[in-house]
Order: sequence, then structure tokens, then C-alpha cells
Amino acid sequence: MKKTIEDFNLKNKRVLIRVDFNVPMQEGHITDDNRIKESLRTIQYAIENGAKVILFSHLGRVKEESDLEKNDLQPVAIRLSELLKKEVTFVESTRGPIVEAAIQNMKEGDVVLIQNTRYEDLYGKLESSNDEELGSYWASLGDIFINDAFGTSHRAHASNVGIASHLPSGLGFLVEKEVEQLSIALHNEIHPYTVILGGAKVSDKVGVLASLGEKADYILIGGAMAYTFLKAKGIDVKNSLVDTDSLSFCKDMLEKYKDKIILPVDSVNAKEIAEVEVHICEIDSFLDKDIGLDIGPKTIQLFQEYLQKSKLIVWNGTLGYAELESFSHGTKSILDRLKDVDAVKIIGGGDTAASVISLGYKDYMTHISTGGGASLELLEGKELPGISIIEEKDAE
Ligand code: 3PG
Repeated sequence: MKKTIEDFNLKNKRVLIRVDFNVPMQEGHITDDNRIKESLRTIQYAIENGAKVILFSHLGRVKEESDLEKNDLQPVAIRLSELLKKEVTFVESTRGPIVEAAIQNMKEGDVVLIQNTRYEDLYGKLESSNDEELGSYWASLGDIFINDAFGTSHRAHASNVGIASHLPSGLGFLVEKEVEQLSIALHNEIHPYTVILGGAKVSDKVGVLASLGEKADYILIGGAMAYTFLKAKGIDVKNSLVDTDSLSFCKDMLEKYKDKIILPVDSVNAKEIAEVEVHICEIDSFLDKDIGLDIGPKTIQLFQEYLQKSKLIVWNGTLGYAELESFSHGTKSILDRLKDVDAVKIIGGGDTAASVISLGYKDYMTHISTGGGASLELLEGKELPGISIIEEKDAE
């Protein structure tokens, strides 16, 4: 068992908390603050227990000078301060005298947010390559390290693995909850167990299919990846997106899990990825030049029947090209059915989580992950370096 924030006496300690404030932004405005909200419990706990709270996060990717301004964490500091109802001191540098002075001046319960850790990537990818000197410098600013950035836990970077290698460390409440909930999906104790997989590419889901395929009773496949499976089954999907490199993997899966894998029986199509001449086709009657962009009404009905009889449901990947209204109906209808299904309902991060939250279904789900890549890797059964590096509780 890993240590958690509750295993430490935080009073008057400089507690470095790695959070994942990698939130979507448009022209300097946060468009979805869910990740900030989900980190509040750990931050508030540290404040209430007398810590000096020093927060680290990345935002976006920094490859050139022009990436600096658009990935400035200052708007996040403002939003965090509103949510905490407390002053948050934002430090515009990632190292040096300004950072050190800000920490020096802290009192118990104060909160400081350090500038985007990936500013250190500009010259030499120091954060992303887990530069030893950078990790040990950041560690020198604190007494205890807490990893509460679940979304970044599949990365071995200086601001998580690097700092943790030099300090006593524990997990925050968010990471603890994510691991606990996503682990339910990895164990096959609740049945019937249904996995819904969507998204663009089969290759992104190979690991999850291999890991959960064995455990699940049913695997419902939608999204663009469904057309690769259909093609592998010998169906002419015309101009639909097909992940050619994954065709033989799909064939193997269809053979191995022929009674488990449930594919669409109809499809919402158009001649281009646009809302023009949208029509519904049976799966084996695509018109010339058709591109499949969503599951059709009969598939929605079929998927809903499987969900109705399930007790554990894990969903990763939207079922159609949900950015366009005409192709979001499959995802919305399945969400609407999930609302009333009496089951443990776990939603992987990324686009699926964003759809669930923006469409107002958050309260009907058992767990919505804050991690895209991290939740996929955990579901694949992989070890996440940001979690593995955290100290174990002492054996009793
Ligand atoms: C995410 O959004 O998945 C995490 O914040 C990790 O971001 P990254 O893929 O840029 O490392």
C-alpha cells in the first residue's frame, strides 16, 4: 500500500503537491475547470492541517517561445483562488530567487502556485526528460511531496518522479480515488460486466482490449474504431476511417471473443465529415463514398439492451464524431440510458469524460477519471511511474 497525504504530519511543513491543472483553454480562458475542482480536496486538507502548500503543474506542451504565453498558468491561479476562497500566490518563474523568496515568505495555510513546469522544456526538455538536477532542485524547496496529478502519472517527469526520488512522498486523495475506482474495472468481480469502447483508432485501444477483453462479458464497440472491426469482418465500409495496421488484430479479437464483441448493426453516414446529406444505413448497405460517423438507431437500441442487464460498465471513447451535432446522437443516447442503469459506471478520461460532464451527466456516474492517457494505461494493467515511485506504507 502506498503512503497517502494522511500518513504525514503537515504542520508548518513545505508540502509540494503535484496537481494536474492541464485544463482546456481558449484565448486565456479556462473552458472546463473540472480538474481544478477535483484537486481541491487534497489542497484543502493540506491547508487545514497547517501546511505551506506549494503547487506544481504543467499546462499544454512547450516546444518554442510562442508556446509560453498560451500555456501561462496564471488564469489557473485566479480560478483556484476563487474556488478555494483564498489568496493563491502565483510565481511567474519555475526556479530561482523569485520562487525561493515566495516560499520563504509563506505562513501555515498559505498557497503558492509555481509557473508551468513545462516552461523548463523550452531549452532541453528538462521537465519531460526528468532531468536529475531539476528534480532535485524542486525537491530542495519542500519537505514532503504529494502526487495528486493522476492525469500525469503515466509520465516520468521531473515534477513527479524527479521530486519524489528525493523526498518523503505520498498520494493525494484524487490519485487514491482514481486507482481505487479504476482497479474495479481491472478485476472481474462484478457481472455482467460491459466495456464500451469508442474513439478514432483501434491502435489506441489495443492494450485495453487485450486487458479487459478477457474479463468483460460484453464489449460494445462504436466510434470510428468500429469501422475497422467491421472491415475486418468483411463488411464494405466504403470511405469510413479504417486503421489498416490494426485489421489483423481485429480479426484475432473477433475470433477470440466472437460472443463478446458487439458491433454496430447500422450507421449514421455522410459523404464528408460535415453535416450535409446525413443518412442512416444498415451496416452492410453503405452507399458509394459513405463515411460512417455515428452508431445508428438500431445499434443504440442494441447497446442499450446490453447496458440494461449490466452491473459493471466501463466506458472509454465517444461513439461517433461527437464534435458535430448530427453525429453526437449515439453518445448522448447511451449516456441517457446509463443515467438510469443500476450499475457501477466508470468513465475513462479524455473526450468521454468531457462529454459526460458538458452534457450534464456527471452526477449519474460512479466515477469519471481525470486522466486520459493515464486511465487507459491503468486499465491496460500497466504500472504508472508517478505512482510506483511513491513510498510504501511501513509494514505493520
Ligand atoms: C493529460 O491531459 O492527459 C495530462 O495532463 C498529460 O498531458 P500530456 O499528454 O501532455 O503529458
